[in-house]
Amino acid sequence: MNREQLASYQPLHVFDEAIFENIVDDLVTSGFSIQENGLPDFITQALLTCQRSISEAEYKKAGIGRAENYQKAEKVRGDEICWITGSSEEGALWLSWCEAMKQYINRSLFMGLFSFESHFACYEPGKFYKRHVDAFKGQGNRVLSLVAYLNDSWEEADGGELVLYFDENDQIGTKVLPAKGTFVVFLSEAFPHEVLPSVRTRHSVAGWFRVNGTVNDSIDPPR
Ligand code: OGA
Ligand code: MN
Repeated sequence: MNREQLASYQPLHVFDEAIFENIVDDLVTSGFSIQENGLPDFITQALLTCQRSISEAEYKKAGIGRAENYQKAEKVRGDEICWITGSSEEGALWLSWCEAMKQYINRSLFMGLFSFESHFACYEPGKFYKRHVDAFKGQGNRVLSLVAYLNDSWEEADGGELVLYFDENDQIGTKVLPAKGTFVVFLSEAFPHEVLPSVRTRHSVAGWFRVNGTVNDSIDPPR
């Protein structure tokens, strides 16, 4: 970079780290963090713009594993998904905010988070996602889950709550309304969770921070 370029150089984005600090504190004390209205407004707006630009054809039925048997999957989850590639400015902004969160968490907790992947999910009325964990111990390498919500004025009667269970024996859990601006972060292996049947069309973003599972000469691409 020459002097002129240097003088006009701006880091791409500088994000307010206060919210990241809250997440880290919560992760240390309980392994999960529920941030009601915690998404910065410009991130919510970027996600909404991005989500609204996706055509119906781009949403695909979500699967439940590598050998995807959609009939079987339908009984477990009924959402449709679209991966966020960062090809739009808004998608890229979301990914860079998550990257900043990843770096903050790594600096604070030495979690060694390596990559991040995320998709939009749409639950049409009546759809749900049965109780599950996002990663199994010793397998997979999703270590931290993130879910963010994009729905205006959601009420209990609208269903579709996320229920986060504190361990495998917990049958009560805690409910989170998928209201615009709310997001949740939790350790992927530790917290079973489900999405209750939704009454309204429900939009969310689900994402996972992964550690690098590359061993020897077998590479482990993010997706
Ligand atoms: C998932 C998931 C929760 C939600 O996609 O794995 O658990 O509230 N989503 O959308
Ligand atoms: Mn999940």
